[in-house]
Amino acid sequence: MIVCRSHAELEKMRAAGKLVGQVLTALAAKVAPGVTTADLDAIAEGLIVDAGAIPAFKGYHGYPATICASVNEEVIHGIPSGQRVLKAGDVISIDVGASLDGYFGDSAVTLPVGPISEDAARLLRVTEESLYKAIAVVKPGGRVSDIGHAVQKHVEAYGFSVVREFVGHGIGQQMHEEPQVPNYGEPGRGPRLAEGMVVAIEPMVNAGKPAVKVLGDGWTAVTRDRSLSAHFEHTVAVTADGAWILTARDQPAGAN
Ligand code: MF3
Ligand code: CO
Repeated sequence: MIVCRSHAELEKMRAAGKLVGQVLTALAAKVAPGVTTADLDAIAEGLIVDAGAIPAFKGYHGYPATICASVNEEVIHGIPSGQRVLKAGDVISIDVGASLDGYFGDSAVTLPVGPISEDAARLLRVTEESLYKAIAVVKPGGRVSDIGHAVQKHVEAYGFSVVREFVGHGIGQQMHEEPQVPNYGEPGRGPRLAEGMVVAIEPMVNAGKPAVKVLGDGWTAVTRDRSLSAHFEHTVAVTADGAWILTARDQPAGAN
């Protein structure tokens, strides 16, 4: 069942999403060579708890941390570690989820650590652009697969590839609700988008081939060919006027 949210519920989801955006902005300011992914996790947890919210990922199917921190060839679900020291030239995907007053927000960005290669910068730019291309097609009467189609078209035009094994999702009073939101496919398929629906759109894009595998820790997804990967995510509501980005940031998280 796909739930449509009232305006009052969407205001609550905006409050959760705004907090998630603020956490991402704060983390982006800390990303630098020498920082560990555990440092970032501790900052995120402190900000979420201090705001009276609950980290959404911690304890989810046993996930041990507040954020996912996925470096370079890690696609998503990298577990923060005090041993993982960021270095110049890395790219780090940071995924944050929180619930506030019973409603969830979920958002991710991929950031450069110090100066990065032109190819890496292009991967980040194109992946983020693909998220905004997808958001641009969100409107009542549209279809869920229009979203994935917009992502895939943009990403493949640059020679990058879209991860198939993981998808975006409905979100509301649970972090994962119906429908699933793939990042590929033909337009005009799947459920119709209706006012009040809320989806987390989250393109995962590889510089090389699309295949991924999960490491022995049971969580970290990496590209099989060990090429770089990027991940951007927003929680987005369908309104009469189009998309309302519930995790929008007042201040940029890194470049955006
Ligand atoms: N944004 C991711 C998702 O939608 C984060 C989940 S991490 C998990 O699935 F640990 F909570 F699974
Ligand atoms: Co998500």
